[in-house]
Amino acid sequence: MKDINGATAFITGGASGIGLATARALAAKGARLILADIDKACVEAAAADLRQGGAEAIGIELNVAEEGQWARAAEAASGFGEVRILFSNAGVGGGSGKFETYDTDVWRWAYAVNAHAHLYACRTFLGAMKAIGRPCHLAITSSMVGIVPPPISVAYISSKFATLGIAMGLRNELADTNVGISVLCPGMSATNIVATTQKLRPGAGEQDAAAATAGAMSKVLAAGMSPVKIGQRVVRAIEREEFYIFTHPEWKRLAEPQIAEMLAAFGESADPDYAGDDIDSLVAANGAKRMNVSVAG
Ligand SMILES: NC(=O)c1ccc[n+]([C@@H]2O[C@H](COP(=O)([O-])OP(=O)(O)OC[C@H]3O[C@@H](n4cnc5c(N)ncnc54)[C@H](O)[C@@H]3O)[C@@H](O)[C@H]2O)c1
Repeated sequence: MKDINGATAFITGGASGIGLATARALAAKGARLILADIDKACVEAAAADLRQGGAEAIGIELNVAEEGQWARAAEAASGFGEVRILFSNAGVGGGSGKFETYDTDVWRWAYAVNAHAHLYACRTFLGAMKAIGRPCHLAITSSMVGIVPPPISVAYISSKFATLGIAMGLRNELADTNVGISVLCPGMSATNIVATTQKLRPGAGEQDAAAATAGAMSKVLAAGMSPVKIGQRVVRAIEREEFYIFTHPEWKRLAEPQIAEMLAAFGESADPDYAGDDIDSLVAANGAKRMNVSVAG
């Protein structure tokens, strides 16, 4: 999508960190911004700051995990401009600890925010974006831990794998449409994610190992990449129609052995007499023409 100038972008988690930085980078290209965030005061302040800098921007309160609240997002957008860039980015983290003791409410909440919300975002805007006919773009935030899982929270890793799967599946569905798609997989970035998570998580605060690891992560992330650079990289990916947005190449040395291990696991068939799956039929049975796995653009 080359003509960002004048396009309206809807950004979840737009009050802080990577969402806000991407909003700023889009504003620098002349985009109009709708920032959506659960933190009303912060999102309104962020939008006011963008307007101060000369951008057209509004901030709306939205809990992305509550499907019923998305009608408000649609309403705000209809009064502002047709959305051509959708950045489904809001997310929460959390400390690690033994998986078998993980709190069920926190598990459901993490999935609702990090994974389920992408459906609500797409239900609200994707159909209209397709109908526009002009180039549009959907970007979704996963994480480098959704590619290579380090020993951190299983809830976070698995919800980010779900997001990667959503983006990869949608990539097939959006092939041959006017809507490009990217999945953002950052490594560590100096944002507010640890504090935001502690503020928003349901139930009592994190205990024991989870509290200790969250505290340690706070220090590690503080030394991470500036979200400003990540936001600028997201905008480049939108312009170039890149699917994978990998901002931290130092993780490649972890991805290589993991992928090599997976490839090596393709050994003999469990049934040497079986002719092998007919992938073309699988694709055709789902009404698709082809797998969309090549590098876009
Ligand atoms: N910071 C990192 O190191 C890092 C690395 C990889 C991926 N990410 C991902 O980047 C995305 C942005 O996070 P960030 O690091 O900029 O953190 P951040 O906390 O600075 O920003 C996230 C924003 O999302 C908002 N938010 C949280 N829950 C919400 C909800 N239910 N509804 C609406 N808004 C909600 C928060 O209020 C906050 O403003 C997340 O998806 C995160 O998982 C972050």
